[in-house]
Amino acid sequence: MRVTIKDVAKKAGYSTATVSLILNRKCSHFSKRAIYRVNQAAKELGYRPNRLAISMVTKQTHVIGLIIPDNSNMFFAELSKAIEMSARKFGYSVVYGNSSNEPLRDMEYIQMFEDRQVDGVIFTKSFSANEENDLETAELIQCSKLPFVLVDRELSGNHISSVLLNHRRGGYLATKHLLEQGHRRIGCITGPHTVTSSKQRLQGYRDALEEFGVAYCESYIFEGDFQMNSGRIGMNELLHQSVTAVFSFNDMMAYGVYQAIAEQGLRIPEDVSVVGFDDLWVSSTLHPALTTVHQPVEEIGAKTVEVLLTEMEGNIIERSCIFEPTLVIRNSVMAR
Ligand code: RIB
Repeated sequence: MRVTIKDVAKKAGYSTATVSLILNRKCSHFSKRAIYRVNQAAKELGYRPNRLAISMVTKQTHVIGLIIPDNSNMFFAELSKAIEMSARKFGYSVVYGNSSNEPLRDMEYIQMFEDRQVDGVIFTKSFSANEENDLETAELIQCSKLPFVLVDRELSGNHISSVLLNHRRGGYLATKHLLEQGHRRIGCITGPHTVTSSKQRLQGYRDALEEFGVAYCESYIFEGDFQMNSGRIGMNELLHQSVTAVFSFNDMMAYGVYQAIAEQGLRIPEDVSVVGFDDLWVSSTLHPALTTVHQPVEEIGAKTVEVLLTEMEGNIIERSCIFEPTLVIRNSVMAR
């Protein structure tokens, strides 16, 4: 049986109104004796405030909904942690939903968070969402009364605030580094072509090739799914193309690249140079340590929470914040 304000009032010997004010720290005009007796009674009874009842009065739950596409991908684990740590500093809890790359589950979570009356939603769309899914999801968000912020990926057809990385720059930095090391047959293992972060990285790859006067070759492009095994499959395909280097559009797929190269009895970087993207904490522990594009995940998470809180305060502004990537050079690339 849940302990109520009435139980505390009876034990402390004060009215429920007095107890409610003291427990909500509105007790400047009460005696120290009253404050002590009420807090002591609440402690002894194990009283915890009824958040649902409070939210019905304040219309605030102090809860943020977070929708991510794949909680098995360490990038999203790191991003979720950054968002939660920042939200807690402002007194908010984070409830998150994993859509498992199902656009319909994106929409289910949007609906669920609205039904549960969270105060705002942070959203990274599914990998597999196509243009039609995007428009339907964007419409659902626009109809929702909740403040939304997109993180990491854009959603076509809307004016929702977003916090993004300059993915095109990241793709350019990775590819330029390989070109500067003399590589010309550079394979790409991309993310799903439906995802803006992947499309923009591929554009950055093409920018660097153009700058160095190297022709773009479609046979060097393998569409992965941001998961480790697609990196392994993609690398085996690209080895038939005699590539000397591969740019993997995330570190998880780069781990699959390492696996494929080891299975073929080849070596990194002597036989194949490898560059990743995300700079997950594991990447520096590999042998050889992975050269990769760093995403400032902690800053991205903190800025995402800041933009959402601004919107929750009623300052509904379309904001798009873009963070810049950096190249972290380690030991997985060798000059040709
Ligand atoms: O690893 C998952 C990838 O998808 C990351 O690079 C992130 O930017 C997201 O787009």
